[in-house]
Amino acid sequence: MAIYKQSITDQVFNHLREEIVNLELKQGEQINPKKISEENGISVMPVRDALGRLASYGLVEIKPRVGYFVRSFSKKDILEIMEVRKLNELYCLRTHFSAIDLFKVRKFTEIMKVGGEALSRNAFDQMDDFLHDLVIQASGNSYLIENYNHVKDLVVLLRHLDRERIVQAHTEHQAIVESILAGDCQGAVSNLEYHLERVTTGITHYLEEINVL
Ligand code: NI
Repeated sequence: MAIYKQSITDQVFNHLREEIVNLELKQGEQINPKKISEENGISVMPVRDALGRLASYGLVEIKPRVGYFVRSFSKKDILEIMEVRKLNELYCLRTHFSAIDLFKVRKFTEIMKVGGEALSRNAFDQMDDFLHDLVIQASGNSYLIENYNHVKDLVVLLRHLDRERIVQAHTEHQAIVESILAGDCQGAVSNLEYHLERVTTGITHYLEEINVL
């Protein structure tokens, strides 16, 4: 980790956040602030501050007198977070369908042509972000967008737990985009609903496999 003078807390926060959402730190793994501070030649205070902030984003769990841990998810957590996504994304798609930026969608279809084996984790993540954000942005409602962004880090983290499904998820995204471009609101809503259902199943299956549920 490269540490610069400018806001040490921010840098520790960003670095740990990346490691958590990219699953480099495992669910339930303990994070030792003293070790991080010693390894990077910084005081322990900014590390604790960064961990406190990560806790407020739901990425870190603080157990009093025990320590800091990477947040782990129960099946209930997954279903609740996915419910928030469905509530917001399906609502925005249905209600603000005509406000979706079709110019951006058309540009997006070009980027989406990369598929199959050529599809990297990183490319998929960017496309996934772009498409779901586009739907939320269509609302033009700053309160709704801010509210959705509050669970955004968890959305990113959960996306990485839906790890076996990149190719299928990509196909599901294509179906959503096709319906949007065809002006078929109902079709787009059902395709998005199907996609979010499959994401939910993908994550819960993965967690069952690693015995976290
Ligand atoms: Ni998606």
